[in-house]
Amino acid sequence: MSRIAYVNGRYLPLAEAKVHIEDRGYQFSDGVYEVIAVQSGRLVDLDPHLDRLWRSLAEIELAPPMSRRALVSVMREMVRRNGLAEGILYLQVTRGAARREHGFPNPAPRPALTMTVRRSRPPSAAQFADGVTVITIPDIRWKRRDIKSISLLPNILGKEQAHRAGAFEAWMVDPDGTVTEGTSTNAWIVTMEGALVTRPLGPEILPGVTRAGILALARKSGLRVEERSFTVAEAKRAREAFITSTTSWALPVVSIDGEPVGNGHPGSVCASLREAYRRNHVEI
Ligand SMILES: Cc1ncc(COP(=O)(O)O)c(C=O)c1O
Repeated sequence: MSRIAYVNGRYLPLAEAKVHIEDRGYQFSDGVYEVIAVQSGRLVDLDPHLDRLWRSLAEIELAPPMSRRALVSVMREMVRRNGLAEGILYLQVTRGAARREHGFPNPAPRPALTMTVRRSRPPSAAQFADGVTVITIPDIRWKRRDIKSISLLPNILGKEQAHRAGAFEAWMVDPDGTVTEGTSTNAWIVTMEGALVTRPLGPEILPGVTRAGILALARKSGLRVEERSFTVAEAKRAREAFITSTTSWALPVVSIDGEPVGNGHPGSVCASLREAYRRNHVEI
């Protein structure tokens, strides 16, 4: 079955789905996006994703392209038309098409809303069982990483650097030596004393939806949780490390810059949080 995309009010075969050459997303990265997992044909953690989208839109002073209710019905229609059981839905909103001037166009064009879906599976059992590796790189991004902007050049370059180094992910590091996050994931460690540590929310990181879900589950299970920054050196000395995201859930990190984390094997805290997350958030 050919994939169907949504472009500004129309459902079209992917090959025919086009946006204007002067779309500000295309010319300036003037837009925001969301990626939502689909499991058993259902949108996982829909509300927190929409909350974050509305926040990103407000932060760049862009009006929502339609009501939240209407957006949800388009999203569900995309899942239905594509017969998507397991995969992801990508949606993007830009400031629309206008003559290329940096300032906001006046009058404001209609925001452009596009959506695609794609079949995909969560990480394989082997990846959960064996863990993945990360490298560390300087965080060269702008200072509003809390906005889910479509401007992802530093993230793309960082991920490519990781792949060329044979790693799954790159952890980005601020000039003070603290880990901000992965190029498409949030970063976590479990200290030798058993505390679960992840960076607090703020302009330095994206407020991950999976991060929020995992944090809530950790607190409920009575784990000691510390929302604070940690350095690369502390991560290398940790008992466990892992990453979270919509597409990777909670995936153990077994080495950082070629040095093993803990005993070099995935840890039990990551595994039990992932299992709790799967039970509570993902229907399979
Ligand atoms: C930079 C960055 N951090 C963290 C995440 C994880 O966020 P979420 O759990 O909402 O997928 C993502 C997801 O794409 C990301 O791009």
